[in-house]
Amino acid sequence: MRPLEKRVIVALDVPTPTEAVQLIAQLASEAAGFKVGLELLMGNGLIPLSTALYIRASRFMLDGKFHDIPNTAAKAVRNAASWHPWALTLHCSGGPEMMALAADSARQAAEPRPLLLGVTVLTSLGFDNLVKTGEIPLEVVTALAGNDEAKEAYLRDLVLQRARLAKGCGLDGVVASPKETALLRELGPDFLIVNPGVRPAGSAADDQKRVGTVTQAIRDGADYLVIGRPILQAADPGAALQAINAEVNEALAQPKET
Ligand code: C5P
Repeated sequence: MRPLEKRVIVALDVPTPTEAVQLIAQLASEAAGFKVGLELLMGNGLIPLSTALYIRASRFMLDGKFHDIPNTAAKAVRNAASWHPWALTLHCSGGPEMMALAADSARQAAEPRPLLLGVTVLTSLGFDNLVKTGEIPLEVVTALAGNDEAKEAYLRDLVLQRARLAKGCGLDGVVASPKETALLRELGPDFLIVNPGVRPAGSAADDQKRVGTVTQAIRDGADYLVIGRPILQAADPGAALQAINAEVNEALAQPKET
């Protein structure tokens, strides 16, 4: 029988390292890894968390989402690598020079060096948000007015464009929504795709705009799913993660549509 696969990285979005360490102990056997993001990074969480993850041999995704001038971002990557994360994140919108210099830093880190993942477009942003931040030109806004499908396609293309750039700059993969995973797979089987914005059937979307189901993300080729609230806010987080793992394995067992 095929061994069960673990593809879920649990987002440790909790206020204190103590709660996070408890979650690691509770969920490590069912999780592919754990993501430490800005909430915990701004506290005193790195020493207890990196220790807890090291002890459990869990993947440690250090989600700093760097976005700065190339020199600063590259040095942040160099220092972040000293925590021995499995993966680090930065924003692709920081530009090609920033990504390339940061990728050099990641490659120069001690083995096993951290993977560098580029956040393409936050899954909490939809077309209208990007219009407001000026990232979508007004002529495009006018041409696509009232056409939701075309707006989704425009966002998918923007994500693909940023992912291509990230790959060209030497990144190991990207963070994107499940809505874009099928398209991103054209960048090759070895380019990692990590999907946040994943919701088991029946869960609330919360502040996420570009969401998809576990089944959709896995069938389209996501390597890992980053999931927070549907696990953390469940009455029994362990059972919630097990149910998601069952959905993952069912999706992996289904034959691919051609
Ligand atoms: O609770 P939820 O499952 O929505 O959490 C998603 C996690 O994924 C959060 O920790 C958030 O910081 C992260 N995220 C990300 N990249 C995005 C969107 C969300 O890493 N594009």
